Amino acid sequence: MSKKFYITTPIYYPSASPHLGHAYCTTMADIIARGKRLRGFDTYFLTGLDEHGEKIEDNAKAAGVTPQQFVDNVATKFLSLWDTMKISYDDFIRTTQPRHVQTVQKIFSRFVENNDVYLSSYKGWYCVHEESYWTDTQVVGENHLCPECGRPCEEKEEPAYFFRCNKYVDGLLKFYDEHPNFITPVGRKTEMVNNFIKPGLNDLCVTRTSFDWGIPVKEAPGHVIYVWLDALTNYITALGYLQDDDSRFQNYWMDPDCEIVHLIGADITRFHTIYWPMFLRALGLREPSRVFVHGLMMMKDGKMSKSKGNVIPVPPLVERFGVDAVRYYLCREIPFGQDGQFTPEQFVDRLNTDLANNFGNLVNRTISMIIKYFDGVIPAYQGELNALDAALKETAEKTIRSYEVLNDDLKVTDAYAAVMELVNAANKYIEDSAPWALAKDPTKKEELASCMSHLANVIFLSGTLLSPILVTKIPEMYDQLGVPVEMRNYEAATHFGSLGGVTVKKGNPLFPRLDVKTEVQFIVDLMNAPKEKAAA
Ligand code: MSP
Repeated sequence: MSKKFYITTPIYYPSASPHLGHAYCTTMADIIARGKRLRGFDTYFLTGLDEHGEKIEDNAKAAGVTPQQFVDNVATKFLSLWDTMKISYDDFIRTTQPRHVQTVQKIFSRFVENNDVYLSSYKGWYCVHEESYWTDTQVVGENHLCPECGRPCEEKEEPAYFFRCNKYVDGLLKFYDEHPNFITPVGRKTEMVNNFIKPGLNDLCVTRTSFDWGIPVKEAPGHVIYVWLDALTNYITALGYLQDDDSRFQNYWMDPDCEIVHLIGADITRFHTIYWPMFLRALGLREPSRVFVHGLMMMKDGKMSKSKGNVIPVPPLVERFGVDAVRYYLCREIPFGQDGQFTPEQFVDRLNTDLANNFGNLVNRTISMIIKYFDGVIPAYQGELNALDAALKETAEKTIRSYEVLNDDLKVTDAYAAVMELVNAANKYIEDSAPWALAKDPTKKEELASCMSHLANVIFLSGTLLSPILVTKIPEMYDQLGVPVEMRNYEAATHFGSLGGVTVKKGNPLFPRLDVKTEVQFIVDLMNAPKEKAAA
C-alpha cells in the first residue's frame, strides 16, 4: 500500500489581489505535492480562501458590493494565479461554501455539548487587519499598536463564547515534547512556548457579535464564529469531516500513518501550533504531523505590500520568463524556512546560472554530441568503463538518496540543490572525459559510447527529479531525449542506465540565456508600474 501524504497551504484572505508572496507558499506546497506524487505517495493537496471576517466586510463596503460579491471577484484572481503557476491542487476550499459552513456549525455545537466553550463577555484590543484580539500587555505603546502588524487596535467589549484553553494546555505541551518535529524550524516552537504559553494562555474568544460576515452560531443568534476557528477547520471540512461522504477524511486524517503537513508563514504560527491542536483535541482527533513555517518573501524595502508599491505581479513575470523559471527561482533562491529577498539581479542571475548555463546547456551539448557521434541514437548502457564513469554513477545514486531524504524532511531547497550538484558534476564529467578527443581515436569508440550513455542517463534522472518544479520543460526535455512515454516516471529514471537505444531530437534550447541588463530593467519597470499608475 502506498504511503499517504496530505499537504495544505494557509487559506488566503481574498482582501486584495494575490502577489508573489502568496504565490511563494502555494508554489512550494505544489512542488512538495508533485514530488510526493512522482514517488508514488497517495497525495492530497488542499488550498483555498478564508472568506469571512470583519476585514472582508469592511473592504466590500468600501467597494460598494456585498461581501459575497467581493470575495467571488477576488476568488477568480486567486484561481487564475494558481492556473498561471500550474498549481496542482486537489481541492480549493472557500469558507463560504455550504459544505464548510454546515460543518463548522456542527463543530461549534460539539464544543457547546462538551462544555469546551462557555458564554461570557470580552474586552480587549482588537486589530481588524490581523482579525485578532490582544491583551493590555501585548499591544505596543500608548497608541495600543498591534504587535503583529503595527496598526492601531481598537478597544472592544462584546458578549462572546470562549474556548477553554486551560483544559488542553498541559496536553499540548506534552504533545510538543513527544513530537519534536511538530513545529519546524524548531526556533518557532521556543517562541510559542515562551511568548504565549508560559505567560499564561487566556481562554480564546471564539464568537463575535459586532459584525455579521461570518458563520452564524446556531445556539446563539447574533453571534458569528470567530474567523480563525472558522478558518483552521478548513483542513478537515475540505476532507468531508462530519459530512455524508467522509471517505477522504477517513483515508487521510484518520489514518495515523498519513503524514499531514501544514505549510504556513511565520505570522500565523500561533494559531496553527497552539489553538488548532487544541480544537482537534476537543474533537477527539489527531494532530497534524508537522506545521512547517516558511519565511517571508521580502523586498529591499521590507515586506511586499500594495501600500509600499513594491509588489511583484506574477502573470507578467511568468509570461516573460516562463512558469518553470519563476517556480525554480522561488524554490531555489529562498532557503525554505528562512526569509528571502527578491532582487531583479538575483532573479536573472539564478536563472542564467542554474537553468541556462548548467542544466539547459548540459542537455543541449549532450544531444548535439549524440547526434554527431552516434547518428542520434543513445548507446545502450554497458556499465561503467572507467573511474570517471563510476564516479558519475555513484554521484547519481547518492543524489537519489539525498533527494528523497531531504524532501521527506521538507528541506526542499537543499533537495533541489543536490540535483543541481549532480548536473554540475555531469558538466565537469564532460570536461574530464573530453569526448571530442575520444571521437578522434577509433579505438576509443566504446569509451565514447559509455560517456554518451552516462550523460543521457544523468539527464534523464536529473530532469525527472526536477520535474516537480519544471512542469512544462521536462516533458519537452523527454521529447528531445527520446524518452519513451512509458518510461517517463520515477522508477525508470532512478534505475540508472535504463535509457538507451532511443533516438534524440534536437529542439529549441530549454532555457535560453537571458541578457542581464534588459531583463533586470524589465523587472524594475514591472515593480514601478503601479507607482506610475498611482501618480498618473
Ligand atoms: N487567512 C489567514 C490564514 C488562515 S489559515 C487557516 C491569513 N491569510 S493571509 O492571506 O493574510 O496570509 C496567508 C499566508 O500568506 C500567510 O502564511 C502569510 O505568511 C503568507 N504571506 C503573505 N505575504 C507573504 C510574503 N510576502 N511572503 C511569504 N508569504 C507571505 O493569514
